[in-house]
Order: sequence, then C-alpha cells, then structure tokens
Amino acid sequence: MKSDWSIDTKLIHTAHVPDERTGAISQPVVPAVAYAFPDAETAAAVVSGCKPGDYYGRYGNPTTRILEQKVAELEGGEDSIGLASGMAAISSALLAFLQHGDHVLVTKDVYGGTYSFLTSLAPRFGISFDFVDCTDLTVLAKSIKAETKAIYIETPSNPCLTVLDIQAIAHIAKANSIPLIVDNTFMTPYLQKPIDLGADVVVHSATKYLNGHGDVLAGFVVGKKKHIEFIRKKIAGDLGQNLNAWESFLILRGLKTLGVRVQKHCSSAQLIAAFLQQHPFIEHVYYPGLESHPQHHLARTQMKGMGGIISFEVKGGLQAGAAFINRLKLAMISFSLGDPETLVQHPASMTHFSIPQEDRLKYGITDGLIRLSVGLEDPGDIISDLNQALGTTRDAKFLRRIKAKL
Ligand SMILES: Cc1ncc(COP(=O)(O)O)c(C=O)c1O
Repeated sequence: MKSDWSIDTKLIHTAHVPDERTGAISQPVVPAVAYAFPDAETAAAVVSGCKPGDYYGRYGNPTTRILEQKVAELEGGEDSIGLASGMAAISSALLAFLQHGDHVLVTKDVYGGTYSFLTSLAPRFGISFDFVDCTDLTVLAKSIKAETKAIYIETPSNPCLTVLDIQAIAHIAKANSIPLIVDNTFMTPYLQKPIDLGADVVVHSATKYLNGHGDVLAGFVVGKKKHIEFIRKKIAGDLGQNLNAWESFLILRGLKTLGVRVQKHCSSAQLIAAFLQQHPFIEHVYYPGLESHPQHHLARTQMKGMGGIISFEVKGGLQAGAAFINRLKLAMISFSLGDPETLVQHPASMTHFSIPQEDRLKYGITDGLIRLSVGLEDPGDIISDLNQALGTTRDAKFLRRIKAKL
C-alpha cells in the first residue's frame, strides 16, 4: 500500500491484496466466529493483545479487519473499528471518553439519534451535556467547564447543513486538552478529512455513503490505536456491537465506487439546489454549495465537494410540505440518505422526531423543513419530479436552462 496514492486509488487498493490461497481479487468473506490456535501460549498472546490475530467474533473478524484498516487509512487515523450501526459508533465514541460526572459539549443541530442518546441514555450513566451554537467560537470556548471531557460536532449538520470550522474548534479543544469527535457521515473522507484538520476522532454511519447501496447498517470510529482498542475490548466487546463479515464485505464492495458516486451526488445536488432556490414556491434552501449559505466560503476551504444533501422549506409550512412530498413520483419518502435512490423526508416527524418541538425550533428544524438526499438518477429527472410535485409548471424556458447545464 502506498501512502501517496490519491484517494480514488486508495479506495480500491488500500489494505487489499489478492487472497493468498486462491488468488481471489475480491475480499473473501470469513464468517467464522472462533479461531484455532497452535498452542495455549499463542492463544494467551492473541487474547492479551501481545500478538495480532482473531480469537472470537465479538472482538474482531478478518474480513472486517481489512475494512477497518481501509477506513482508518482513508480518514488518516491510526486505527478504526467497524460496528453494527452509526449509533453504535457514536455512542461508543462518546462512552470511550465520558464517564460518571463528565460533561460533553455538542453542536446544536445533530442527528436525532445522537440527541436521543445524549438526552435520555447518557444521563442514566451520570453524563451531562450542553448543546451550543458551534458557529460561535466564543460561545463554545466559554461553555467549556472543568468537567467537560469531549466536544462533539457534526458538519455539515443533519438536517440544517450548518458548516462548522473543524480546524478552529480543534484548536479550542486542544487548548483545553479535550478530544474533538466529528461525525463525518455527510461528507465521507472523499470530501472532508477531520483528522487532518485537527480532530481526534471521526465517527461514521457507514449505512449511508460509505456503503452507499441502502442494504447495510454499520458504523465506524476512527482515531488513536489506544482509543480504538479500548472500544473494541471494553465497549463493543462487552455490549456486543460488532460488525459482521457479510456486511463488511458489502461495504468493501461499496467503497470501491465511493469516488464516482460522491462526485455524481455532489454535481446533481448543486444543480437541484440552484433549481429549488429560484423556485417561487420555495421559502428557503440550505445547501453549502449555494453562495447564500452562511458558511459557503468556509465550506469551500474545508470540503472538497458540497455533498448530496439539501434541506429546504416549501412556502406554506407543514401542510404545503406534506402535500409536496406526497406528490413526488420518483423520490421516495424514506429515512435514510446516501443511497442510489433519491430519498426525501420530513425531519420534524421522522429523523428528528425524538427532539421536542421547542428544542427543534431552537435548532432551526422547523415543521416545514424537508430533507432531500439526492440520488444517482439523472438530475434532470429529479428536477422534473420536484417541479411537478411543487404543483406549478415552472416556465419551460427556466427548466430548459437548468437542464442545459446537466
Ligand atoms: C449524520 C448521521 N449520523 C449518524 C446516524 C446514525 O446512523 P445509523 O442509522 O447507521 O445508526 C445518522 C442516521 O441517519 C446520520 O444521519
């Protein structure tokens, strides 16, 4: 493996060589749970970590290990662990740094599951939290307490696409000796490398773009070897959150096309965001690739592309938004994102339902907000679908102009 390869080459070749026994190029799936040792001494050395190797499926698997090495290399971390979902990765990363009496600072608009874990489960372990506006670095720095043991951010955030300055936040975290954890799900290492920008830990829902086909639930934590080892032995091992070989194989396969997929998601999303922004029935569009986005310039320095997620508000609020969603013919109403299919959802009643309305509004998640995960279909077809669902025949010249750019 060469470290100077570009990411497109790394996606295919990193941590991957043909199978020694058969020459098979695609990664063999090893579903075994238990592994035999030549003698008792070797067994003891592997279990204690003195010797590399697998011993029991809950603590690691050879197929998953290839994938973990690949994800670590792509993100620029020392090591990574594959887990059963994005939420397993997020909760494990937080629990690796927080214990009874500790406090975590969290950016104000995060994925609903993260909010739910922090507000309902973490307090049962004596962990407290504050949601802060991390676009305001002074507020963030002032919110750090003696017992703050981690800063957790998501950028761009779900669903408001708020972009946070990773380098500046990492600087504040370092000055206070606090680890910075970044959810990089929306970007993937193809578009953003938080560890290069100073973050300590990256978490992923690999359910989304990393696998990219809507058929696997998985998550990753990337960071220092000692933290990953702690998660493997003491969190994932004890809670039984391991990622299995079959799903690891599917992610290894999906990762090979991450580059081409992400580029297409980005180019289509840019066109669709421009279409929505000019539409008379649209109140507001949130997309970092639009100049009107408040952190557009930061996004352009920090991200290699603007991603495939757009959020927007239809004029007329919740009712108009629901009617719009119901009229869509190509885009499907669904929870996930990062799939080949264009997916649309209503955060207030779906992904962010666990957040009380009062808090949702504080974080900018209005009742009329709609999140669109732009798929890999022809962008002209996606625009035509949105246009018909918006219920107006946007003038033909305008549509022709947009389609001419495709
Ligand atoms: C940004 C982000 N992080 C984490 C998650 C949780 O991932 P999973 O559903 O794989 O647990 C999601 C799910 O939508 C997400 O959007």
